[in-house]
Amino acid sequence: MDDDLEILFDAEAVEALVTGLAERISRDYAGRDPVLVGVLKAAVPFLADLARALTIPAEIDFLEASSYGSGIASSGAVRITKDLDRDITARHLLIVDCIADSGRTLKTVMERLRERHPASVEAAVLIDKRVRRVVDVPIRYTGIAVPDRFLVGYGLDKAQHYRNLPYIAAVRGS
Ligand code: IMP
Ligand code: MG
Repeated sequence: MDDDLEILFDAEAVEALVTGLAERISRDYAGRDPVLVGVLKAAVPFLADLARALTIPAEIDFLEASSYGSGIASSGAVRITKDLDRDITARHLLIVDCIADSGRTLKTVMERLRERHPASVEAAVLIDKRVRRVVDVPIRYTGIAVPDRFLVGYGLDKAQHYRNLPYIAAVRGS
């Protein structure tokens, strides 16, 4: 991988965003024992850091969602390709993803999980590419809004690479 990367949020900036979100979530979910639902694979670094920054008890589970079709831009319908392990009836769910783009992934995941009668369903994303939104989805916790560029790092990939970078960068030219 030899892309020219422009760092937008270094590790310190990412940590500040995560800490701010964790404070709000810890306050709002005190006494509610939430289940943090990470959307694989992009959510992994964010979920790991967020969970450790919380000051309240929480459980962790994962699911995987994929858009039909391929390419650099997500498009079309979303399906759940790996499901949660546990019963979520009457639980407070916080869906955690690194980024919201069209919003289709979060909207689909929230709708599917609501069918299982949880107590509540909210969403948290570190990065919000809100200029790209094509479906209406309420996201309670947002780290920061970003312009429409292709981003990699901290869970975000280009052809499955760069997820392990500790910072978030834009691919130059995008
Ligand atoms: P949405 O369903 O269009 O909101 O897209 C969400 C998914 O698209 C994310 O979970 C990412 O996997 C992917 N995605 C969106 N924008 C980017 C990006 O800039 N870089 C890498 N992946 C992205
Ligand atoms: Mg991807």
